[in-house]
Amino acid sequence: MIYRSWDYTDILSIAALERECFAGESWDYQMFASSFSQPGFFGELCEEEGKDGEERHLVAYGCVQCAVDTADLLNIAVAPAFRGRGIGRTMVRRLIGGARRRGMKELFLEVRPSNAHARQLYESESFRAISVRKHYYPDGEDALVMVRKLSDEKI
Ligand SMILES: CC(C)(COP(=O)(O)OP(=O)(O)OC[C@H]1O[C@@H](n2cnc3c(N)ncnc32)[C@H](O)[C@@H]1OP(=O)(O)O)[C@@H](O)C(=O)NCCC(=O)NCCS
Repeated sequence: MIYRSWDYTDILSIAALERECFAGESWDYQMFASSFSQPGFFGELCEEEGKDGEERHLVAYGCVQCAVDTADLLNIAVAPAFRGRGIGRTMVRRLIGGARRRGMKELFLEVRPSNAHARQLYESESFRAISVRKHYYPDGEDALVMVRKLSDEKI
């Protein structure tokens, strides 16, 4: 597996994997493209080396928006066939590391209370729940707001 930062040319395949992972509530190409052009935005991805001269293909992506000294984890997903192999954890750690290197003191995110796998991942990476946003998602589910302190540690 190859881990690296996003290029503008990755956005098409990122939007396609987003559609596969989030169905009706996915970000589209334009949303990723306009976020990518914002100051303070960065994205990390994972791709699998193509076999026998085939092109590499996207396996996971995640992105963060930094502002002043706090950051928001906007999106993260691993392709269904590649879940449960530690790729999501590596992505979270790379996003934490990227935010810390940019001088951020805290990293926030929203997660569905029903998304047990994501919550377990975040909790095991020292995110803690701090509040609830009522009816945050299009289907009416609340969002759990979680935060990870970035100071005083190294990853
Ligand atoms: C959440 C997601 C990113 C995790 O990626 P992943 O590569 O499967 O995660 P990892 O293999 O690194 O596992 C990390 C931890 O997540 C939890 N987890 C992941 N898959 C799990 C499963 N099938 N059963 C139970 N726990 C699971 C565990 O705590 C696991 O740690 P462990 O292996 O030490 O037990 C992935 O499931 C995904 O893309 N889901 C759809 C998109 C999504 O929900 N994104 C988050 C939006 S907030």
